[in-house]
Amino acid sequence: MMKQLRLIACASLLTGAFVALSGQAAQAATVRYEAESAQCTGTIDSDHAGFSGSGFCNGTNAVGAAAQFSVTAPVSGAASIAIRYANGTTTNRTTQVIVDGSTITTLSFAGTGAWTNWATATVNLNLNTGNHTVRLNPTTANGLANIDFIDVTTGGGNPQPGGLVGWATQGGGTTGGGGASPTTVTSASALTSALSSSSAAVIRVSGTISCSGMLRVASNKSVLGNAGATIVGCGFNISEASNVLVRNLTFRDWGDDAINVQYSTRVWIDHNTFSNGSDGAVDIKRSSDFATVSWNRFFNHDKTMLLGHSDDNAGEDVGHLRVTYHHNWFDGTGQRHPRVRFGNPVHVYNNYYGGVTSYGVASTEGAGVLVEGNYFENTDDPYHLGEGDSGPGTLVARNNFFVNSGSGQAGGSVASIPYSYGLDTASNVKSIVTGGAGAGRISV
Ligand code: GCU
Ligand code: CA
Repeated sequence: MMKQLRLIACASLLTGAFVALSGQAAQAATVRYEAESAQCTGTIDSDHAGFSGSGFCNGTNAVGAAAQFSVTAPVSGAASIAIRYANGTTTNRTTQVIVDGSTITTLSFAGTGAWTNWATATVNLNLNTGNHTVRLNPTTANGLANIDFIDVTTGGGNPQPGGLVGWATQGGGTTGGGGASPTTVTSASALTSALSSSSAAVIRVSGTISCSGMLRVASNKSVLGNAGATIVGCGFNISEASNVLVRNLTFRDWGDDAINVQYSTRVWIDHNTFSNGSDGAVDIKRSSDFATVSWNRFFNHDKTMLLGHSDDNAGEDVGHLRVTYHHNWFDGTGQRHPRVRFGNPVHVYNNYYGGVTSYGVASTEGAGVLVEGNYFENTDDPYHLGEGDSGPGTLVARNNFFVNSGSGQAGGSVASIPYSYGLDTASNVKSIVTGGAGAGRISV
């Protein structure tokens, strides 16, 4: 995918109303943490050449004989951890990578041919500013490979397509079921029970599942569609939950909402397709916080995305409802892209509005919305303040691109964006988004 990155750095990018901007300029920095300075359940050895520093961690050969590093991220956002290891045997030394207590992936650490041959395995993740623990936790009786160091790179700017950016990186980040071993579901009953389980789970959806009503989704779930996975007739109710991600699913003909998020935090809705539904496609409400809605496609549908359901709900919602919407494709849909109450700052960037019939973004009831780098085509009303009976919010618009569209209504200032992100040039957003948004564009 061709991308032109423009990193948020320079005050001269600001147009229109003043906005305090603290989305950090992404400047990649790498810090090395040597194993000899970390916690090693075993010994620090130096008998196999090729290591850096004064030694390496030779872990005790046992399940759970971990090496643990304390690392510091100077900025929030996309990061990577490169782990240098040697395994002089021919058996994998399988190891969980646990960051701040969450297992983010499992690495196999295959044989490297000799104890003096060192290799590197890299893990991509999001790190918030501050201190973190990175624990390498072996899951087999042979224990760890020998570990030389980890290199932690932060501030890399736009992560690879498919990475998590935005509000769902905050408040602890969103990892869903993490490294849990996947369960594949092919029926409504299996899906219903997997979603509501109290354990962390990776749920793979296969084929077309017909269902009705709303299926309750509990905490710590990754719901991932296999190629072609489709949910017909029902929706997901992410309620009183945290740490949920939903990726690569097609939802159609739902009777209520396709995805309803309420009293929930740390939610990522990514690369799904939504069409022909009844009420909302992705509605977020009732003090929910820290969500990212990215790379989804919406078509043949009216009420697309509500953020905050009622003018009477300030008590629960003020200070919450912080959501990022980016790289979504609004393909001839009607209204609410999104319709925002109370949340500030809400971030709407790099979306493609193609023939939106009623309106794009509405900022209402004191909300603050940053509308940035979007491509509006054949959309008479790209954004405005207030909507229906709801009073106005504030809205800062900058660097948007308009083709046969109205010019939008902005006003006031919005709170600063706390995370790093890269911004595509708005005129490229139509091709980027139509080339990448929706289910079936990634494999998960
Ligand atoms: C050998 C080798 C160690 C290694 C160990 C293992 O003892 O010298 O460096 O850690 O094997 O199998 O774990
Ligand atoms: Ca060892």
